[in-house]
Amino acid sequence: MMNTNAIAKQPLAMEVDSKSGLARSVLDVGAKTWFAVTAMGQWIFVVYVLAYYAPLILGGGFQALGETSLPGGYVPGETVGNLAVVMHLFLAAIIIGGGPLQLIPQIRSRFPVFHHWLGRLYILTVVTTSVAGLYMVWTRGVLGGELMKIAISTDAVLIITFAAIAIYHAISRNIRMHRRWALRLFMVASGVWFYRIGLMGWVFSTGGVGVNFETFSGPFLNFWAFGQYLLPLVLLECYLRAKDSANKHAKLAMGGSLFVLAGVTAFCIFAAVMGLWLPKF
Ligand code: HEM
Repeated sequence: MMNTNAIAKQPLAMEVDSKSGLARSVLDVGAKTWFAVTAMGQWIFVVYVLAYYAPLILGGGFQALGETSLPGGYVPGETVGNLAVVMHLFLAAIIIGGGPLQLIPQIRSRFPVFHHWLGRLYILTVVTTSVAGLYMVWTRGVLGGELMKIAISTDAVLIITFAAIAIYHAISRNIRMHRRWALRLFMVASGVWFYRIGLMGWVFSTGGVGVNFETFSGPFLNFWAFGQYLLPLVLLECYLRAKDSANKHAKLAMGGSLFVLAGVTAFCIFAAVMGLWLPKF
């Protein structure tokens, strides 16, 4: 006998299904759009780092660091510290250039060996760069003073901790957890990049409210010293919760926010290119 009840419920079930399918797609495309913009922006940063620092250092050695705006970039006779700065800059290219590649699913599935080796190299460089960064901060200082020292050192601790957790889950073959911690690692390791594009986006759009350019201090800089990695981490958690949730409104809201964030990120990248990186050449 035909189950009329079931047939009557079918269109409703299909409608609900198509609505939650749409919400899932909005979230997915929103995340991919934000990621594509971010990857482009990070690769532009790598091009800047290599094009600006490589000819300087290869041509003039450690001493050339003194011509840059890095605080205490070159200290005569301090070979370990000077080496830490050079290492920090060159390893940055692997981190900022390689990080986005690790998150592209097509690369992971088509070239698993490449993914594994780049993953190992990424973890090794991210930890080494953070240790070199800690050495630079506590021996030579940092733009932004004491608060920035604490904020960026906390970032270094988060980077090293998240790297260890991501590797632990990879070794235990818990791929779901590995991916989540790898995403968190990507966010904190991108702090330096978020800092620069966020600061320039703020300066371009507000004229620099809360920033004293002479002393490099002020309320916005205090907020952004921690915001550079805490804000991306909070947004990532919102995205992961929306992804796990069965609530289609949560997915739609997060997906929509990601489109807006992609636009904001693109604007900030433009501001950093025009205000920070291009003027160096
Ligand atoms: C792991 C990811 C990191 C990458 C990819 C990275 C990359 C870079 C790059 C490319 C620069 C030169 C920037 C420019 O010319 O505008 C730089 C500067 C600097 N980095 Fe890092 N860095 C990272 C993490 C850290 C950490 C964790 C610390 C400190 C604990 C740190 C401390 C510094 C300092 C002190 C400078 C000098 C300029 C300034 O005061 O901002 N970095 N970094």
